[in-house]
Amino acid sequence: MIPIAKPSIADDEIEEVVKVLKSGFIAQGPKVAEFEEKFAEYIGVKHGVAVSSGTTALHIALLAADIGQNDEVITTPFTFAATGNSVLYVGAKPVFIDIDSKTYNLNPENIERAITDKTKAIMPVHLYGQPAEMDSIKKIAENYDLIVIEDAAQAHGAIYKGKKTGSLGDMGCFSFYPTKNMTTGEGGIITTDNEEIAEKARVLRSHGESERYTHVVLGYNFRMTDIAAGIGIVQLKRLDKFNERRIENAKYLTEQINKINGITTPFVASQSTHVYHQYTIRVEKSRDELIEFLNKEGIGTGIHYPTPIYNQKLYQDLGFSATCPETEAASAEVLSLPVHPLLEKNDLEKIVSVLREASKQINLF
Ligand SMILES: Cc1ncc(COP(=O)(O)O)c(C=O)c1O
Repeated sequence: MIPIAKPSIADDEIEEVVKVLKSGFIAQGPKVAEFEEKFAEYIGVKHGVAVSSGTTALHIALLAADIGQNDEVITTPFTFAATGNSVLYVGAKPVFIDIDSKTYNLNPENIERAITDKTKAIMPVHLYGQPAEMDSIKKIAENYDLIVIEDAAQAHGAIYKGKKTGSLGDMGCFSFYPTKNMTTGEGGIITTDNEEIAEKARVLRSHGESERYTHVVLGYNFRMTDIAAGIGIVQLKRLDKFNERRIENAKYLTEQINKINGITTPFVASQSTHVYHQYTIRVEKSRDELIEFLNKEGIGTGIHYPTPIYNQKLYQDLGFSATCPETEAASAEVLSLPVHPLLEKNDLEKIVSVLREASKQINLF
């Protein structure tokens, strides 16, 4: 089976973990501080606050921005549930607006009509590793005095107009889950240039402590361990190479798949470097049959994402509804193929030849 995702862990990561284990510091300690500094430098911001996951990064970012009860956050319904859930955790309301049909990212044209007196923030997601249309988003945010929190969980190293995602809004939130462009096992980080927000985030991630046993706010235990940070330091050094491989793999797939009728390949906006956390194609018809065909031939697939967030049971039970036709169409038609850096040339060739065969046997449009 060619898996849809696979982390690349080499001897360097293993040796670093062994070193950390032998050091005696295995919870949050000097390695976390080192990782924060290096990741922030890589992204091009002043501060990094490492946490236990991408989800807790979003949760802490919202709290650090003072978003809570009666506040609204405008975001996309075409994302992993954590984006919307983090808004619910702080007692605020996610307001879901429709996406752009080509990039699958939040469509800035839909933002203004969703703004109310309660709107506090916009939370774009750089879906699949392609930056959202940040200039338009930031302009609206400035006009209405809104905070921008980037969900960059899928976009480590992606570039928009010369700047890395995670440095474009007021805060960026990354995930280091094993399927991501780099991993720490579980883990996340908040990136920001804002000293005050970074300090608030540091306090919130560790029991609201301003100093040892002095609790100034209701905080959490969302800390990253030095074991995870050790893996992260090594993975960060390899990230650009990982991304290069993903981009090369995607280039090959796009060139070849474009020769097959009925399959739409990813669109990349001219101002962006897409880092292909996912390589996602689209078919008008017969997606389930195509998945079955690919899986039978040993090719892993994923649907990112089959259900708009507002249609998830949790959100239906909470009374959410939205009209997002582009999101609903994409949910029914997208399909992700393997693109990860461990793929060999023959894996890529196999993916293309199986797709070619599938297109002859299945009515894709
Ligand atoms: C867009 C998006 N946001 C948030 C998250 C949450 O990250 P984590 O799984 O590290 O909690 C993910 C991870 O899958 C994601 O893809």
